[in-house]
Amino acid sequence: MSDIVDIRERLAAVRQDHLLRFYDELSPDGRRNLLAQIESLDLRAVPDLIERYVRHRPREHVPDDLSPAPCYPRSGRGWDRSGAREAGESLLRAGRVAAFTVAGGQGTRLGFDGPKGVYIGSAVSGKPLFQCLADWIIAAQRRYGSRIPWYIMTSPLNHAATVGFFEAHNYCGLDQRDVMCFQQGVMPTFEMGTGRILLAAKGEVATNPDGHGGSLRALNASGALEDMRSRGVEHISYTQIDNPLVRVIDPVFLGLHAAAADSSGEMSSKMVPKAHAGEKVGVFCRGEGKTRVIEYSDMPEELSRETGPDGSLRFNAGSIAVHVIGRRFIERLNSAEMVVSHTASNAPEGSPGRFALPYHRAEKKTPHVDIGSGMLVEPTAANAVKLETFVFDAIPLAERSIVLETDRCEEFAPIKNAEGADSPRTCREIQTERAARWLEVAGVKVPRRPDGSPDCTLEISPLTAMDPEDLFTCGKLPARVSAGDAIAL
Ligand code: UTP
Repeated sequence: MSDIVDIRERLAAVRQDHLLRFYDELSPDGRRNLLAQIESLDLRAVPDLIERYVRHRPREHVPDDLSPAPCYPRSGRGWDRSGAREAGESLLRAGRVAAFTVAGGQGTRLGFDGPKGVYIGSAVSGKPLFQCLADWIIAAQRRYGSRIPWYIMTSPLNHAATVGFFEAHNYCGLDQRDVMCFQQGVMPTFEMGTGRILLAAKGEVATNPDGHGGSLRALNASGALEDMRSRGVEHISYTQIDNPLVRVIDPVFLGLHAAAADSSGEMSSKMVPKAHAGEKVGVFCRGEGKTRVIEYSDMPEELSRETGPDGSLRFNAGSIAVHVIGRRFIERLNSAEMVVSHTASNAPEGSPGRFALPYHRAEKKTPHVDIGSGMLVEPTAANAVKLETFVFDAIPLAERSIVLETDRCEEFAPIKNAEGADSPRTCREIQTERAARWLEVAGVKVPRRPDGSPDCTLEISPLTAMDPEDLFTCGKLPARVSAGDAIAL
């Protein structure tokens, strides 16, 4: 480790020497920890990041030639759904597929103190989100008679709690050898206005996880990619932790990604039609010859509102953060051949083996130690800038990328906020609606209110049915559902 004089000089060179303001007050261990934390930061990149993202609100790059991205329609019209399913199923039977969940986020909007995966996800039985996703993997392993390893990305802020959860819960019923938790990287958190890196405590730099885009580097750095290679895994089914309805393993999507003529098998995505023009989801577009996601906040307003001849939104393909990613694609991104050639990157210009995802800026309320008084400050308004990369920014790095349409109610019930949209309440409602539809397909009458919503709470585990047809043979169908019932199947 470099000595304190050297680190102080390097910090002074980038105007961050205030990070050592309380160094003399720390214990020997505290000093060591602080210096190790500072050394792990890429200090050379700091002045450029501050200039570009902290002092100014950067304008994101939006191509001039945006058009809606073509999508494989949910109806199956014009493409071979059963052929895609067969291709996906044979990959699953051969053990070529891994599940990957990003769970390193801070969940600040939900306000839950702990990893979000520990938060209750299922509508009736109260299963944690981790268990909801694990049940899909267990069901798929049973159906395809193969092992599906599960890689979970945590952050330094929630890693120990996540690992502790899996240890205490028997790996959610999975084989311990098939569950691997690894940590993503962090970025320093900057004070808005001044660009000073904040101190979380006198001996601790304030940091934030580097975004779900950090997964593409962390998969490599953690050894997870190597582990996949040794198991013969070729494709990675990417999901977020906050959506208990997600089809963690979807043979149709996997097969389309791997075998469709217009897919390079590198990175594919699912979309749902936007609920309305102003919905806060990224939109799949084509621009500069590539498929890409444009964030809702960057999408030109007039394009967001544009409608086609039938009155539907022209830019309608909302991202639900579900992807299949080829293992080789991530290897290529991390390989020495991939040379950073533009400056909107998180790696020094021209450095080999460090691919470029742009940073996105978020303004946050971050508690910190006041440099003058040494007191802890709990801000009441946003005081800090957090920089993150987003995984969907890798889509244009793929040669050819496809998008598959799916039904919101079948696969998308995220828990983001404590109340209102995308909250535990809406998540329960969507799970109930999906279960009601499936039960109705199976001939069970479900009580509905005058507005059409089910007058009950329902949940169907993937262990009971992965598709509505499975209900016919599950042996658990209720004879009837009454108003006010809460039923978990
Ligand atoms: P969100 O964008 O919803 O962020 O993450 P969040 O941190 O969970 O919640 P807020 O914004 O603080 O309220 C979407 C998914 O990406 C993961 C999250 O765990 C979630 O599954 N994620 C996000 C990471 O794994 N790492 C990150 O750095 C950010």
